[in-house]
Amino acid sequence: MAQEDVFKKLVAHCKEYGYVFPSSEIYDGLSAVYDYGQYGVELKNNIKKYWWDSMVLLNENIVGLDSAIFMHPTIWKASGHVDAFNDPLIDNKDSKKRYRADVLIEEHIAKIEEKINKEVDKARERFGAAFDEAKFRETNPRVTANQTRIDEINRRFSEALNATNLVEIKQIIIDNEIVCPISGTRNWTDVRQFNLMFSTEMGSTSEGASKIYLRPETAQGIFVNFLNVQKTGRMKLPFGIAQIGKAFRNEIVARQFIFRMREFEQMEMQFFVQPGTELDWFKKWKETRMNWHQALGFGSENYRFHDHVKLAHYANAATDIEFKFPFGFKEVEGIHSRTDYDLKQHQEYSGKKMQYFDPEKGESYIPFVIETSIGVDRMFLQVISAAYFEDIIKKEDGSTDTRIVLRLPAFLAPVKLAVMPLVKKDGLPEIAEKIVQNLKFDFNCQYDDKDSIGRRYRRQDAIGTPYCITIDHQTIDDNTVTIRYRDSMEQERVSIDKLTAIIKEKVSLQTLLKQL
Ligand code: GAP
Repeated sequence: MAQEDVFKKLVAHCKEYGYVFPSSEIYDGLSAVYDYGQYGVELKNNIKKYWWDSMVLLNENIVGLDSAIFMHPTIWKASGHVDAFNDPLIDNKDSKKRYRADVLIEEHIAKIEEKINKEVDKARERFGAAFDEAKFRETNPRVTANQTRIDEINRRFSEALNATNLVEIKQIIIDNEIVCPISGTRNWTDVRQFNLMFSTEMGSTSEGASKIYLRPETAQGIFVNFLNVQKTGRMKLPFGIAQIGKAFRNEIVARQFIFRMREFEQMEMQFFVQPGTELDWFKKWKETRMNWHQALGFGSENYRFHDHVKLAHYANAATDIEFKFPFGFKEVEGIHSRTDYDLKQHQEYSGKKMQYFDPEKGESYIPFVIETSIGVDRMFLQVISAAYFEDIIKKEDGSTDTRIVLRLPAFLAPVKLAVMPLVKKDGLPEIAEKIVQNLKFDFNCQYDDKDSIGRRYRRQDAIGTPYCITIDHQTIDDNTVTIRYRDSMEQERVSIDKLTAIIKEKVSLQTLLKQL
């Protein structure tokens, strides 16, 4: 099945099974804003717990914070967001559609890369084991010509971005004959800068309301509280502050479901270190964060680093962790070595010292910062796209059936177990209810007695419930039930009094945290 179709099915599945709904749907929705349903909110909370515990529980020198969304407007001046948190936008005059000019260029480059990869795949098939990919890429005339095109576009693009040269960005689009995907024409407006921050007013107009912003990242809340936490927590460098919270961006091109939203949630950690040690810590956090992702078991081949060649003016190293979504490798998390830029800026704009007194060195200085920043919603999309499977099952009569299953890691699954009486009589429902009453203090359980047992299993597979417990007539005789495993569909007979211990071990987040 084409990856585009898989993605469409995934989006439909999220809605049908109570994971994600379009916001304000009865009013035809609100673009790039989504609500999480009864299962979505559980999965989201479990993802957040995995992140939070891996930061705050596992590291004695990392503490949490919950700063307000509204902040003093000068913070965004100091951070550079008022002047520079812009995207270059361009409109197509025929379709009236608006695009991010940089995205149009990046997508054009991706198309040329795709051509190269197709050429390489064909050659690999032709030459088999003897194929030398590096040599082929260096010598094949079609590949080298396309690579030269990419290098040239990248060179011009990078220079234009560095110089904020909007005329040149438009010229790159024209020179490369990039067309609007809707109208197919090259009838473009000029490129303009568009600030991504949402603003509102605080206080009533009669009192003189002031313009404030909805935060576009949670990080600044950490920077401005850096000394509060350091002093009250008696923290010594290196130490980190972790925060989970909402962020808002007026994205020009908001699409791909919850990948790029206007209201989203971030999990950010700023790690404060001695100047000069930042690149070692950057390396360490790169490894730590990649391990965190790969520990979920979705296959290491689905992750890669994308080291930034062009660095933001405040960074001296930056990388993205990318995941292979159904629409290609895309960023899930950013890791940035932000130098002392943010703290220095806040010191200058607030007039307050943002320095740390180092008792070992006997001197004060502004620490350097390594940031790890991941979107909860993007991580949610990563998890759910990796977990979504359509299994073809062979039935006894030779026909086939499709089973849709979310192979979520057990500790992330919204419902850990479903408890089902085989029939709605003979005292089986009562036994099932009793089991739920006992287990509900430890796990998110669901009681289900509607429809055939097969249909009930399928419903649980579709929401990713890892274990189904079935109560049958044998239960009355010997107090045993069957556990049915979602992924293998195998069943095992176990004693009721062992259920808590068995399931606890399987759904434990601790097991995973111990691997990190
Ligand atoms: N403090 C650094 C920062 O905000 P970023 O690369 O702009 O860096 C970090 O964002 C992460 O936040 C991204 O890797 C992504 O996971 C998430 N993110 C950013 N914009 C988003 C959006 N519009 N919708 C959903 N997630 C977003």
